[in-house]
Amino acid sequence: MATIGLIGAGRIGSQIARLAVANGYKVVISNSRGPETLSGLVAELGPNARAATPAEAAQSGDIVVTIPLREHRAVPVEPLAGKIVIDTNNYYPQRDGHIPELDNESTTTSELLQAHLPTSKIVKAFNHIYAAALTTDGQPAGTKNRRALVIAGDDQGAKAAVTRLLDQFGFDTVDAGPLEEGWRIQRDTPGYGPRRTAEELRRDLAAAKRYANR
Ligand SMILES: NC(=O)c1ccc[n+]([C@@H]2O[C@H](COP(=O)([O-])OP(=O)(O)OC[C@H]3O[C@@H](n4cnc5c(N)ncnc54)[C@H](OP(=O)(O)O)[C@@H]3O)[C@@H](O)[C@H]2O)c1
Repeated sequence: MATIGLIGAGRIGSQIARLAVANGYKVVISNSRGPETLSGLVAELGPNARAATPAEAAQSGDIVVTIPLREHRAVPVEPLAGKIVIDTNNYYPQRDGHIPELDNESTTTSELLQAHLPTSKIVKAFNHIYAAALTTDGQPAGTKNRRALVIAGDDQGAKAAVTRLLDQFGFDTVDAGPLEEGWRIQRDTPGYGPRRTAEELRRDLAAAKRYANR
């Protein structure tokens, strides 16, 4: 049974944990305050879930999901070497504090994480769906007008693995290309938030504009 590690178990992390357990994965969840603060969520998730430190979640996960953008430099590097790491983050300066490289659009959230985790295989995913919709909008593969989610990444094998995961979770996938194209689904782009099929999302990605060009 494969394990999904979660560094961050708030709104989006807890929802990914729910989907993972429902689809036969083990999960190891963590946050900044310590495993004992996650006992309620562990009880809800059942016997295939446990709470641990971020380092243990990183170590245990075959795929690891990292949440905190502002704290991304606290994500443990060594236990994630060579692993698939999913970045769910968005940049809201009023919440995350100003990050100059994101303000001047010289990089993206996922590329920041990639720079911090040089040998990990970063895939951007889950950033543009409201956390609550993750457990309500999924449908079986082949459903007409199935909802699609965007991924971006530089490693084809990692993207294929995340595409399989999303399919299990109930969603089609649209590949936006390498990590540097991840801005096409960032906050305030057409595809950010609403329910979209794969065809609609492809149009949204093509229509996206950088903040500086609006
Ligand atoms: N909410 C959504 O609908 C949604 C949807 C898609 C994407 N996103 C994006 O996903 C990211 C997280 O959003 P969220 O709404 O899930 O936030 P959230 O509910 O505030 O959860 C953040 C989680 O990260 C943990 N965390 C913070 N610093 C940490 C550290 N240094 N080490 C380990 N864990 C740490 C927090 O733990 P503590 O509580 O213990 O500090 C908490 O479990 C954001 O970038 C957001 O834009 C959110």
